[in-house]
Amino acid sequence: MSEETPWWREAVIYQVYPRSFNDTDDDGIGDIPGIVQKLDYFEELGVDALWLSPVYASPNVDNGYDVSDYRSIMDEFGTMEDWERLLDGLHERDMRLIMDMVLNHTSTEHEWFLEARESADSEYRDYYFWREDDGDDPPNDWESVWGGPAWTRDEESDEYYLHLFHERQADLDWTDPQVTDEIFDVVDWWLEKGVDGFRLDSVNLISKPDGLPETGPNEDPNGLGVVANGPRVGEHLRALCERVHAHDGVVTIGETPNLSVEEAKSYIGPGSDSLSMLLSFEHMEIDRGEGARWAMREWSLPELKDSIACWQTGLDRDEWQGLYFNNHDQPRAVSRFGDDEEYRRESAKALATLLFTLRGTPFIYQGEEIGMTNPRFERLDEIQDVATRRTLAHAVENGQVSGFDEVEDLINRRTRDNARTPMQWSADENAGFTEGEPWLKVNEDYPEVNVAAARDDADSVWHYYRRLIELRSEHPVFVHGDFELLLPDHPGLFAYLRTHEAERVLVVLELGGEASRFELPAFVEYDDFELLVANYEQSEEPGITDVPLRPYEARVYRLD
Ligand code: GLC
Repeated sequence: MSEETPWWREAVIYQVYPRSFNDTDDDGIGDIPGIVQKLDYFEELGVDALWLSPVYASPNVDNGYDVSDYRSIMDEFGTMEDWERLLDGLHERDMRLIMDMVLNHTSTEHEWFLEARESADSEYRDYYFWREDDGDDPPNDWESVWGGPAWTRDEESDEYYLHLFHERQADLDWTDPQVTDEIFDVVDWWLEKGVDGFRLDSVNLISKPDGLPETGPNEDPNGLGVVANGPRVGEHLRALCERVHAHDGVVTIGETPNLSVEEAKSYIGPGSDSLSMLLSFEHMEIDRGEGARWAMREWSLPELKDSIACWQTGLDRDEWQGLYFNNHDQPRAVSRFGDDEEYRRESAKALATLLFTLRGTPFIYQGEEIGMTNPRFERLDEIQDVATRRTLAHAVENGQVSGFDEVEDLINRRTRDNARTPMQWSADENAGFTEGEPWLKVNEDYPEVNVAAARDDADSVWHYYRRLIELRSEHPVFVHGDFELLLPDHPGLFAYLRTHEAERVLVVLELGGEASRFELPAFVEYDDFELLVANYEQSEEPGITDVPLRPYEARVYRLD
């Protein structure tokens, strides 16, 4: 492919959630040596880079997204030497390592916060947002993302500090130049160690609106509407990106909730002061209802197509996005957008086909490549996710629900633990993840859904992922091509064209879960076609129009 194309546009990135990936010391918690053990696995799958969820020292209120020391490794995960072995091992295999940087907030056990809390005169005080307690309510009406006020009163100083997430995740005040200096030092420190990029956690929350204005009554269940995309996000990001991109080939990936495609344009672009790409949330909000935090709603395929198409066509060629349907915060896509029972295999493959044939950089989340599904959580004590526990506790406190039993189904659909159950390596005890007691229960489907079984089965989801990764590297059209949606209103089919220079492909996906028929619109002209990939057995002469499609059937054609 062309010389100017940065590596990360053509890459496939694999996200590892270390706690749930592979345990080598039998404490029931995944670790870095466990990731090192699987280096050949990543290579065999064909991915180009790993994104490692946080491995820094942390009291683990939010599984590492509450960092207490940015320069050391969490004990449970191993040592800095283990981490170095991981980096070297990846580099030896021509793969790269992307670190997760949580810079919107620190743990309240970080030494900056401990110092800041000591006294109102501490030089660290202004690293965070403190407001006097005037005796009544918290300083403003902001809610934390998981419910309850975004302010907690510090007994010692009689002041409140701000936390958009948990009260043990205090928000950093980026307007203090000392804060940005510290952050730049941390980033430089990891660059020195040879990392290839950063995924920047919640990065469009780093600039709070001037004067911290009240939100007022609003429909935004996250409460982030007023706080996201604040006045100085652009300025802070430009400074950070300039710094990082001074190192050749280092990628910056912004995690950006509450962002429209129009707003996205100001953060990404070809310049060294822009993010390389961002991870938007719009398509992940499709089943979110209004009002209560957990509310869900029915969604329709035309809505999902519209959202995806809007980003595909709304961004310019140089404005890049990461593509994903799974990560450590989202329920498993096959359970959410597919059918995890009758058509688990087919729907996992159909969603994968979508992921790999859109413009952007595909992200695979561990276990997705074998079609892992949501487990069933029967009791609250089976759930660890701080977001779920918090949200439930607040709803109970406010008298909105009586307890777990009342919202069991909702919790099962929504909880982030759906994605965090241990990786299923084999049919051995605990899915081969640990010989100890796993920190979170293993999904009961592991005897059937596991890596060992998938490798042995030529028709598995795993082999299909490998095929798609290969296909994407063989055809520049998948990376660079323009996107054109066909049949926008069709309730069950997602069909589109991708065009790049002389190459054109047609993607047809049945996502409604029912047999259907595909008619190629008359304006799509072609002389000849070739079926590049499909997730069902095909007849010797597969057609391209007036084609009967089976539930979750996926076909990708090249048009000549
Ligand atoms: C991001 C992370 C999520 C975490 C939150 C706070 O959204 O992906 O896991 O809880 O930020 O750091």
